[in-house]
Amino acid sequence: MYERVGGYQFFVELVERFYQLVEADVSLRLLYPEDLEPGKGHLAAFLAQYWGGPHRYTLERGHPRLRQRHMRFPIGQKERDAWVAHMVSALYSMEISVDAATEMEDYFRSTATVMMNR
Ligand code: HEM
Repeated sequence: MYERVGGYQFFVELVERFYQLVEADVSLRLLYPEDLEPGKGHLAAFLAQYWGGPHRYTLERGHPRLRQRHMRFPIGQKERDAWVAHMVSALYSMEISVDAATEMEDYFRSTATVMMNR
C-alpha cells in the first residue's frame, strides 16, 4: 500500500487534511492537546509504518500500543464517529484509487471502534 499511494508524503498530506477537519470540529478539538504539531508527525509516521513504509514510528515512539495510548482520551461512539468521518473525508479528498481508499477506510472504521473506551 505504501508504494501504491506514493510513499511517505501521502500520509503527511492525509494527516494534514484530517487535522484541518479536527481543528474545525469544536467538540473533537477539545480532546486534542493545544499543540497539534507533534501528534500530526506521530500519526503520519504510524500510518506509513502500518501500511508498509519505514518503521519510523517504532523507532521514535516504541511499540504502538494504540489502545493503551488512547486511554487518557474519553472516546465514546460520538467521538469515534466524528474521528472516522473526518478521516474518511480526508482520505477521499486525496488522489488515490478506489481500491486503496476502500481498504484504508475499512481499516480506519474497525480500528477506531477498537479505540473506544467509554
Ligand atoms: C484508526 C483509528 C486510529 C488510529 C490509527 C489512531 C492513531 C493515533 C496515533 C498513532 C497517535 C499518536 C500516539 C503517540 O503519541 O505516539 C494518536 C493520538 C491521538 N489520537 Fe488517535 N488514532 C485512532 C483513533 C482515534 C480516535 C477514534 C480518537 C478519538 C477522538 C483519537 C484521538 C486521538 C488523540 C486525542 C490523540 C493525541 C494527539 C496528540 O497527542 O497530539 N484517535 N492516534
